[in-house]
Amino acid sequence: MQGIPVVLDVDTGVDDACALLLAALHPCLDLRAVTCVGGNAPLVDVVRNTLTVLELVGRTDVPVGVGATRPLLEDPVDARHVHGSDGMADLGLPPPALEPDPRIAVELLRETVESSAAEGRPVTLVPLAPMTNIALFARLHPSAFGKLGRVVFMGGGANISNATAAAEFNVFHDPEAAAVVLDACAVHEVPVTMYGLDVFYEPKVTDAQVQRLRAVDTAPAQLAAALISFHHRRFASDGATIGDAGAVAMLLAPDAVRTERRPVRVELSGTWTRGRTIVDTRDWSGDMAHDPHGLSPAMVDVALEINGPWVADLWLRTVGGEQW
Ligand code: RIB
Ligand code: CA
Repeated sequence: MQGIPVVLDVDTGVDDACALLLAALHPCLDLRAVTCVGGNAPLVDVVRNTLTVLELVGRTDVPVGVGATRPLLEDPVDARHVHGSDGMADLGLPPPALEPDPRIAVELLRETVESSAAEGRPVTLVPLAPMTNIALFARLHPSAFGKLGRVVFMGGGANISNATAAAEFNVFHDPEAAAVVLDACAVHEVPVTMYGLDVFYEPKVTDAQVQRLRAVDTAPAQLAAALISFHHRRFASDGATIGDAGAVAMLLAPDAVRTERRPVRVELSGTWTRGRTIVDTRDWSGDMAHDPHGLSPAMVDVALEINGPWVADLWLRTVGGEQW
């Protein structure tokens, strides 16, 4: 069976690396390209980390496009307090021999999306970072953007935040980009799923599971164990989320996630709420009919519940080398 054509946009990142491992290794996914953006760490670190992961698991066939160094408007910030000073758990891995693709991110996106659509197998685009690249892709190549099969983005939250009391990191990092992407999905009728913080923290891996992974003498298993162990130590907890990897896992196990199709907007101007994803959960048509703002044109499948243990186990079995 042919795998689902996917493209990941990453700010690698410990959990982006977990997502790359799943996308690169699972036989039901056809990882066609990866694009990089500054976010968890500066772009140069993100590119190096991404190339390191793909080279380590033998996926040197996957082109890596270099994208935006910073958000459209916001000053760049990073999350190295979460991901380590090098952005990927400070593992001290040797620099990759693999080079990025000569095409910049938006061109690699355009060519990959158009060629996949021409095959009749449209790409599922999985942004796992601030959506600067995706917004630029939508505005520079709207026709190609309209050929996407679906967008499944890690970002936002209906009821949970992390970067501020109101916003999630990826959307807070570039709120304008997130708003542009939701607008483009609505205009081009590209189905869009929000894998937000309401589910992001649920798929967790315990220390005992990591110890079993360490017993598997393969590069993917050893890297996966090291990544999760870093978060166990950093957060002094027995359970560490696989984070972004859950958004990729959702493609493989849609039944493991409950979604609701809701209007979603991104707050761009609130002093304390900038970057919030406003998920409209109202059900009474009377309220909505009299809303002076009107409903958001962006109808989004918002992930609200997830079978965390099942998704974590899917990731563990894949990085542990289970033959599907
Ligand atoms: O808020 C979580 C998101 O921010 C994840 O994508 C993580 O990698 C960081 O980029
Ligand atoms: Ca990320």
